[in-house]
Amino acid sequence: MRILDLGAGTGAWSAAFTDWYGAEVVAIEPSAAMRARCSYPRMLAGEAAAIPLATDCLDGAWLSTMIHHVADLPAAAAELRRVLRPGAPALIRSAFPGRHEKITLFRFFPEAVTVLDTYPGLEEVNDIFAATGFHKVALEPVPQITADSLATVVEQMQRDAHTPLKLISDADYESGMVRLRAAAVRESAPVIDELDLLVLR
Ligand SMILES: C[S@@+](CC[C@H](N)C(=O)[O-])C[C@H]1O[C@@H](n2cnc3c(N)ncnc32)[C@H](O)[C@@H]1O
Repeated sequence: MRILDLGAGTGAWSAAFTDWYGAEVVAIEPSAAMRARCSYPRMLAGEAAAIPLATDCLDGAWLSTMIHHVADLPAAAAELRRVLRPGAPALIRSAFPGRHEKITLFRFFPEAVTVLDTYPGLEEVNDIFAATGFHKVALEPVPQITADSLATVVEQMQRDAHTPLKLISDADYESGMVRLRAAAVRESAPVIDELDLLVLR
């Protein structure tokens, strides 16, 4: 089982898939800064529109919270079609426009919804991938425990790590942090978010 982790960041998913499933994972990441912070060993420089791998060499591709960064999505879809073996899936984990209700950050930073609205939509992604021969197999919101409490979210908040928060105004960000800190005093439950998993073959 050979999997591509495209836009792998610091390689957290690559390491997890190796540990969880014993898969052979190839991580590809365009940012030198991310690659420098990565401890996962099989990390290559590269990007979605020019994947530096042979044709028909992969059993699956994992694209986690990265498609909104890809400038040329049709080229990326064509490259994924090329490197994946026939029938192998592309798994796209993302927040999609109009589907933010179960993502905690948007509760406290409602202005960030307008940023999410600029992300590639589900229909757009389906159409682009369909043009290269992929078909939608599944769309599933996947619950995850993001943090043990809102207090931990406050403590660990890094605005730069969240594109929608980077792109709202400083005043809107500060107002959201005030709401988040107030809720963290009242609510102690684990923070559960749901991002979508779109599976295409
Ligand atoms: C929010 S991070 C997600 C990192 C990782 N996939 C994860 O889920 O933890 C988005 C990543 O996509 C990368 N990226 C941006 N443009 C890209 C492109 N055209 N092709 C591949 N990766 C890209 C960024 O450098 C960044 O590491």
